[in-house]
Amino acid sequence: MTMLTLNRVTRYFGGLAAVNDVSFEAEANQITGLIGPNGAGKTTLLNLISGLDQPASGEIRFMDRAIQKLPPHKINQLGIARTYQNIRLFAEMSALDNIIVGMHTQGKAGLLSAALSLPGYRAEEKRLREQALQLAERLGLGSFCNTPADALSYGDQRRVEIARALAAHPKLLLLDEPTAGMNAAETARLGELILSLRDEGLAALVIEHDMSFIAQVCDHVVVLNFGEVIARGTVDAVKSDPTVVAAYLGEEEAADA
Ligand SMILES: Nc1ncnc2c1ncn2[C@@H]1O[C@H](COP(=O)(O)OP(=O)(O)OP(=O)(O)O)[C@@H](O)[C@H]1O
Ligand SMILES: [Mg+2]
Repeated sequence: MTMLTLNRVTRYFGGLAAVNDVSFEAEANQITGLIGPNGAGKTTLLNLISGLDQPASGEIRFMDRAIQKLPPHKINQLGIARTYQNIRLFAEMSALDNIIVGMHTQGKAGLLSAALSLPGYRAEEKRLREQALQLAERLGLGSFCNTPADALSYGDQRRVEIARALAAHPKLLLLDEPTAGMNAAETARLGELILSLRDEGLAALVIEHDMSFIAQVCDHVVVLNFGEVIARGTVDAVKSDPTVVAAYLGEEEAADA
């Protein structure tokens, strides 16, 4: 079943087509990789899907609903949650409280009852904390629950972001370079976690430069270069695609120049 469909999506920044006429699908119960050289348009595409930014043209459909004009919180409520390439945590809040932030879309008791400290609110607060604790344990953050986010290593901060995204009970998880700042052991564990989440029914779209991680977790890969899809298929197929090889070689030559 197709979960996410992009149909001819375009986003310009001034004269630059950061995302140019992009079409692809992400399937339910699959991990789709989004790869490509620096500046290819990967983060811009994630911003468009999550509602942080709007396309100039084209359509983004999630579970048969056009979402390209919806604000981020609506898209989150529909079942898409994300992490950020540049980590966005509340620096002075504990890891656990940052995870609880991700649950705000699920909360039933309103702000008024919170302000009045009504019993219904306190019961719900307790329920949310217990759920957040379970997520923290699952992400290997159990011993850091009370640590302020900015005192954590980059790898741990990335896991707090993933836990916060999962706290919204998404159907589709968007990850922007989740292994950046993680060592090899943390990266391998994250790969296993993503695969176990997929086995529980979660779909994901994962941006990553680490090709062995992509090979570990992805069922299907989309390759972007200069804002355009230049290849898609299995990891093995795209790795040996001459257009893809040339795009990455071009990047190395540009870096050497
Ligand atoms: N807000 C913005 N204003 C102007 N240009 C932007 C903006 N955001 C991105 N760009 C440009 O759009 C292009 C795509 O950027 P984007 O961040 O999407 O690439 P990326 O594939 O995520 O790269 P990386 O692998 O380095 O994270 C780049 O040329 C970038 O400089
Ligand atoms: Mg990026």
